[in-house]
Amino acid sequence: MTFARWGLVALTAALTCTTANAAGNAAAGKVKAYTCYGCHGIPNYTNAYPTYHVPKLGGQHPEYIVAALQAYKSGDRPHSTMHAQAASMSDQDMADIAAYLSTAPEKK
Ligand code: HEC
Repeated sequence: MTFARWGLVALTAALTCTTANAAGNAAAGKVKAYTCYGCHGIPNYTNAYPTYHVPKLGGQHPEYIVAALQAYKSGDRPHSTMHAQAASMSDQDMADIAAYLSTAPEKK
């Protein structure tokens, strides 16, 4: 039941992605997003040690991911860890990563 539901969400995200976000390359994004899963790809989205919450990324809308990364990069959204992640990203990097994450599984 739950699986079927998430499958549908993933499918919808994938379809949305190909039409609405043609600029992002999901294959390139998969490589660029590899390190992100060190923090974000954990069950229940909580780091094991030290324990802190991390938001889920897989299945989010690409526009949302890009907006969040832009805000971290510019400092509009203050967070030292994510600022460090986003600071070196180009717009293309963000679009690619967002394209991949929007089609990615909830957790990995
Ligand atoms: C060292 C751990 C760590 C790494 C590595 C990391 N993140 Fe994060 N990320 C966090 C934490 C903690 C937050 C929550 C920050 C906050 O409260 O604003 C976050 C927040 C985010 C958000 C905002 C999500 C939301 O729902 O508001 C996005 C998008 C994001 N990260 C993308 C990425 C991407 C893309 C990468 C890889 C390039 C990455 N992160 C790598 C720890 C990490």
